[in-house]
Amino acid sequence: MEKVLTGIQPSGALTLGNYIGAIKQMLKYQDMYESYIFIADMHAITIPQDPIKLRENIRSLLAIYLASGVDPKKNTIFLQSENIYHANVSWILECLTPYGELGRMTQFKDKKEKNANFSAGLLTYPVLMASDILLYDVDFVPVGKDQKQHVELARNIAERVNKKYGEIFKVPLPLIPHDGAKICDLVDPTRKMSKSSDNPKGVIYLLDDEKTIRKKIMSATTDSEMRVVYDMENKPGISNLINIYTSLSNLTIKDVEEKYKDSNYGTFKNDVADLVVSVLTPIQEKYYKLLESAELDKILDAGIEKTTSIAKEKYELLKEKVGLYR
Ligand code: AMP
Ligand code: TRP
Repeated sequence: MEKVLTGIQPSGALTLGNYIGAIKQMLKYQDMYESYIFIADMHAITIPQDPIKLRENIRSLLAIYLASGVDPKKNTIFLQSENIYHANVSWILECLTPYGELGRMTQFKDKKEKNANFSAGLLTYPVLMASDILLYDVDFVPVGKDQKQHVELARNIAERVNKKYGEIFKVPLPLIPHDGAKICDLVDPTRKMSKSSDNPKGVIYLLDDEKTIRKKIMSATTDSEMRVVYDMENKPGISNLINIYTSLSNLTIKDVEEKYKDSNYGTFKNDVADLVVSVLTPIQEKYYKLLESAELDKILDAGIEKTTSIAKEKYELLKEKVGLYR
């Protein structure tokens, strides 16, 4: 069976963008492929983290995965830092990656602007990501649009290493969702909805209560036209709400435009809010139950056992090819 692997950083409360762009894909692919899902905690420390909060976020992310329907029977779920081979392989790959390629990564350029004393890890992060991916010979890597460049880098690294040392890695393809590939901020719909946004009014967090969700959606930025029509360039606010609606329902953009052709923005927003609440409420109920349960640790124990043996084998092969043995 073909394999997929993906992960999310436990770097803050998850957003509706994460759910639509990442978790919904996991739910789809767990029924189609052999699936590996991890918590990218080592990626999270590329920017400063409070240790107590980080630990809470790790547990919370796992509970969110499960509450959203990521099934531990169908997926191998693990914590990145527990598998020591990710960083070991990453080091070797770093030494096989030109410095200039990393400096060109869009996300690095953005993030270094926001962190005055940015770490060296912020630069080498895409190589750790390549290691996450290449260790498991996966076919596909489901990610949002913003991560596509990093998956392409992983492909380049794999191809370069294979050319130099013989077939070691499978070269994977990114899987980018079409609709809702990018969910935008509700206040500034030209920006991505992000965990690290400084204005919480623009961001729907998966654990926001119903009242907060409704308030945020009802006050989302729109335009003065009063036509529910998809036009990302001229009507980014309404188009973003249409994206959210189509991503969470079985409707297409055309269906939504047709359904609301005689409606005002208030009616449409109210329906978007109903839909978001109906998706998030059951997830939240399951989440709070799971957080207390010992099941979380059992799942990570099983995941680390399985992935360590796979990763060790790949690491040994790479070491041998590179000449790291006595
Ligand atoms: P991040 O929150 O940046 O760590 O992203 C975790 C995953 O969620 C990645 O696969 C992202 O591409 C995806 N993601 C994050 N924010 C959004 C968004 N606003 N719209 C769609 N996908 C997103
Ligand atoms: N860098 C990804 C993000 O910030 C998370 C991630 C780390 C990842 N390693 C990965 C995603 C491997 C897919 C595959 O969203």
